[in-house]
Amino acid sequence: VDEVTLPPLFDAHVHLRDGRMLEIVAPYTDRCCSRCVIMPNTQPPLDTPLRLVSYRQAVAHSLTRTQPLYTFKISLEQTQHLNWLSQFQSLGAIAGKLYPEGVTTNSAHTGISRDVLLSLDRQTNPLRPLLAEMERLGLVLCLHGELPGEFCLDRESAFLEVVDELLALFPSLRIVLEHITTVDAVRYVTSHAAKDDRLACTLTLHHLLLTLDHVVGDALDPHSFCKPVAKAPEDREALVRLALADFSQVFLGSDSAPHLCSSKEHQGCAGIFSAPVLVERLVQFFEEYDALALLPDFAVRRAEHFYRLPSLDLPPLVLVRRPFLVPETIQGIRPFGAGETLPWTLHQE
Ligand code: DOR
Ligand code: ZN
Repeated sequence: VDEVTLPPLFDAHVHLRDGRMLEIVAPYTDRCCSRCVIMPNTQPPLDTPLRLVSYRQAVAHSLTRTQPLYTFKISLEQTQHLNWLSQFQSLGAIAGKLYPEGVTTNSAHTGISRDVLLSLDRQTNPLRPLLAEMERLGLVLCLHGELPGEFCLDRESAFLEVVDELLALFPSLRIVLEHITTVDAVRYVTSHAAKDDRLACTLTLHHLLLTLDHVVGDALDPHSFCKPVAKAPEDREALVRLALADFSQVFLGSDSAPHLCSSKEHQGCAGIFSAPVLVERLVQFFEEYDALALLPDFAVRRAEHFYRLPSLDLPPLVLVRRPFLVPETIQGIRPFGAGETLPWTLHQE
């Protein structure tokens, strides 16, 4: 085949940032997505209804085709303002995102410490009223699933016991374990999600392609550094098998997370800006496994189903087999695969 058509993607996890960065990066999501779930770890974070109100306006200026779906950043302060949760929802939030303290970009000082996460069974746990209210409202809980205080490569596996507790304590809460990276998480999700349709997970493009060797195997490569960090070859292989499996609760969440090159190179910020190559590289990946027929389910339909949104009847994306040279930088931000030539080009009007 020399041409592929595809429904516009549902990117269930993307960092669009704000200010100037939003203006630069939003068009890359806009060109190929019908919907996107926007992460709330801006600075300041989207953790009050007032902040979400002004952020919505900024996003509305930057997205012309993609329907934005918002999230709010869960904070312990919200326990004192449970009425905010229905306000977030009225403002277009479909989920709350939980960031354990200190595990990734802009997650310091959330108060959501290891102790809080490991004591959910106690009545007095400050997260419980908040999660109960999310459950009541039908808001999805999106998890950055890494347990603070563990060795960095073990944080995701250690967090799975928190997921277990959450599923048990909140019997109708729907949960997305975001950007999973390990064999352990793949096993956990496939064994639990098979019996429980409340649990789903997202996979990023970059974790399907990278291992820790890309980050530190040779010279340190800050542009391959993200959280959770890419793991061992057998972990990546498990993610690939999961992406290619016919499993309804696994879907695309790119975690496209732009930082200026200078921030990545000098401060070591975690995050990979994959939006500029997302659809091209996904088509290449699925074609390499002779699995293009599965791509609409993985990258669109299952997320629609999980988030209970109707399919949109939009003109398809058209990709043609023509070399696409990924730019070295885009306004000071290095895209994933910079400098590589990819086999598929998105045909744009
Ligand atoms: O690599 C990452 N970058 N992982 C995250 O969880 C956050 C993101 C960011 O905001 O830069
Ligand atoms: Zn993210």
